[in-house]
Amino acid sequence: MSTSESPATESDANRPGDGGAATAPSAVSVAKEPQPEKSRETLLEVTDLQKHFPVTAGVLRRQIAAVKAVDGISFSVRKGETLGLVGESGCGKTTTGRMIMRLLEPSAGKITFEGQDITHMKQRTLRPLRRDIQMIFQDPYSSLNPRHTVGAIVGAPFKLQKIATENGVKKAVQEILELVGLNPEHYNRYPHEFSGGQRQRIGVARTLALRPKLIVADEPVSALDVSIQAQVVNLLEDLQDELGLTYVVIAHDLSVVRHISDRVAVMYLGKIVEVADRTSLYESPMHPYTNALLSAVPIPDPEKRKGRERIRLQGDVPSPLNPPPACRFHTRCWKAQEICKTVEPPMVELRPGHETACHFPENAPAGAAETVAKSAAL
Ligand SMILES: Nc1ncnc2c1ncn2[C@@H]1O[C@H](COP(=O)(O)OP(=O)(O)OP(=O)(O)O)[C@@H](O)[C@H]1O
Ligand SMILES: [Mg+2]
Repeated sequence: MSTSESPATESDANRPGDGGAATAPSAVSVAKEPQPEKSRETLLEVTDLQKHFPVTAGVLRRQIAAVKAVDGISFSVRKGETLGLVGESGCGKTTTGRMIMRLLEPSAGKITFEGQDITHMKQRTLRPLRRDIQMIFQDPYSSLNPRHTVGAIVGAPFKLQKIATENGVKKAVQEILELVGLNPEHYNRYPHEFSGGQRQRIGVARTLALRPKLIVADEPVSALDVSIQAQVVNLLEDLQDELGLTYVVIAHDLSVVRHISDRVAVMYLGKIVEVADRTSLYESPMHPYTNALLSAVPIPDPEKRKGRERIRLQGDVPSPLNPPPACRFHTRCWKAQEICKTVEPPMVELRPGHETACHFPENAPAGAAETVAKSAAL
């Protein structure tokens, strides 16, 4: 339930959820060089995607409500790029990732991969697609089976897909181990014999086994020590260059997302509120929520830190069981007016490649509010 009426205390004030946007300084603070202009093809297209989890009660398990975890989001990912997906804990990032992986059945909307509608594709037809889309999980400790050797873990996908002989698998696995910076001689070792960073490298190696086209990385470095986060992020970037991979990187640490992403989508309570190229988003965020998240990111340079004001959001994130009407952020937004409670702001491209869903965008070009009003009236 929303507690937006309650006064913010020093301890909870403007903590962007328990995910805590960038509460600790990240080792990854230098953004990568802007990419040359991309006229690349779209690899993944998500349109009005929804996932409502039913809440049931009684012996007959009648549905009495629904958790609106993802409530109509649209975005696309071009071949070879990295899309960062950020937002507070519980806003629907993992649910989105799991729907793309087809580990969860969408309630509505459409997912297109390489032009093919995969939204409700049957498991049998999905099989070849399972090679193309892989997922890296947050926790390198629990996502690896402790009873299996590294060779068995990284080689399992080959065996599942029955595409190589025993010897062929060993050779292929050793090549992949080398690619991710692990010693191929450690083929017969078990996960507990590796450090956290090395284990995440094993996780990355496992996803690479079948040469995927798209990797969905769900908080790939948040369980790691700050000192080794950068190594894993750099590894992901090197592999992208080498293998032409496309990434969707889910994270609550805005510094990590800034470093690795070409474009960034910001989620709030099951909706995307802003999508833009990295530079545009970080330098001139237009949605008040994005501004609030960014204002909480630590800046190492004391000079740059000076004139920056931290925006303190009031209250907690409302429940996805009963989200606020119209603009979902209005209960915590300092710019909210009557219209924000009655009319849902549409996503509008207010600068080239920079879209936001807000009636009163910040850092926006002149006439933006009128443009939004017109789109909302359509
Ligand atoms: N299987 C499920 N059944 C019911 N509700 C669920 C289920 N999975 C997720 N939810 C709810 O959906 C919402 C979104 O969850 P999700 O895990 O996608 O958030 P997230 O953005 O990944 O959060 P975090 O940053 O904490 O990982 C949450 O309110 C969560 O409680
Ligand atoms: Mg998650």
